[in-house]
Amino acid sequence: MAHQEGRVALVLGASTGLGRAVAEELARGGVRVAMGSRSLERVEAAARDMASEGGKVLPLETDVGEPAHIERAVAAVLKEWGRLDILFFNSGGPRPGSFFDLSDEDWRKGEDLTLMGFVRSVRAAYPHLKAAATREVPAHIGVIVSSSVKEGIDHLTLSNVYRPALAALVKELARTLGPEHILVNAFAPGRFATRRVEELDHETARRRGIPVEEARQASVARIPLGRYGDPAELGRVAAFFLSPANTYVTGQTIFVDGGMVRAL
Ligand SMILES: NC(=O)c1ccc[n+]([C@@H]2O[C@H](COP(=O)([O-])OP(=O)(O)OC[C@H]3O[C@@H](n4cnc5c(N)ncnc54)[C@H](OP(=O)(O)O)[C@@H]3O)[C@@H](O)[C@H]2O)c1
Repeated sequence: MAHQEGRVALVLGASTGLGRAVAEELARGGVRVAMGSRSLERVEAAARDMASEGGKVLPLETDVGEPAHIERAVAAVLKEWGRLDILFFNSGGPRPGSFFDLSDEDWRKGEDLTLMGFVRSVRAAYPHLKAAATREVPAHIGVIVSSSVKEGIDHLTLSNVYRPALAALVKELARTLGPEHILVNAFAPGRFATRRVEELDHETARRRGIPVEEARQASVARIPLGRYGDPAELGRVAAFFLSPANTYVTGQTIFVDGGMVRAL
């Protein structure tokens, strides 16, 4: 892993699961990490654990569905550490459901939490990333998407629509921000052992009238490596692409899925 000492990151959606794993791996590499989520209590608990392992962390109450919270989080990072080198955007997944299960409000909320939350975060972070970036040590933006970028997932219509939109936006931003030495990549998880996947397994079991364990086994059976991922496995991959070692990969969606997605 390239040297990350001196760099500063803002990781949103960071109290548990994949976002937390990315924050932890960055902190382990010496990055000062501001971490946001809706619940100050949860994000403070995560920050305490990380600080006890030597991480330099700043917990922030930040709901990515609230534009003012995003602005506030970026301002807090600048006040605390005076720079920003890495933005990593994550949030809760959109509401499960098929097309006819979803109301206008569900669509609006799904868009706000995935696409627009990212749009607003990039806008707020941009001037500071630009100020920090050089040709030799670029600034980095990362965003969590999903395997639905390549293959639609049953009963996850909102993910199937908004995740590909995010991947397209990452391509667009790579072209817009490349000349400023800001690299932008998406990370597509397959199935990781997190609260979200636990909830989705319960939802599948309820819908199909089967035990949760059976739903889980059917899901695992689609993964060549034969297991759900550990969030740390995604954290390590993301931390590499967000590090100074990555000076030339931008606009990509990087799949971290144990081989699950069959599409090229
Ligand atoms: N796990 C997988 O295998 C998988 C696969 C494909 C896609 N994904 C996507 O990856 C993302 C992370 O999933 P996960 O599995 O890590 O889920 P998770 O364990 O439920 O974590 C979600 C994180 O996002 C935070 N969060 C939720 N809503 C937020 C909001 N409005 N503003 C700020 N933070 C918010 C939560 O913290 P608070 O509750 O404290 O706000 C929590 O830290 C989701 O978008 C999910 O759809 C996951």
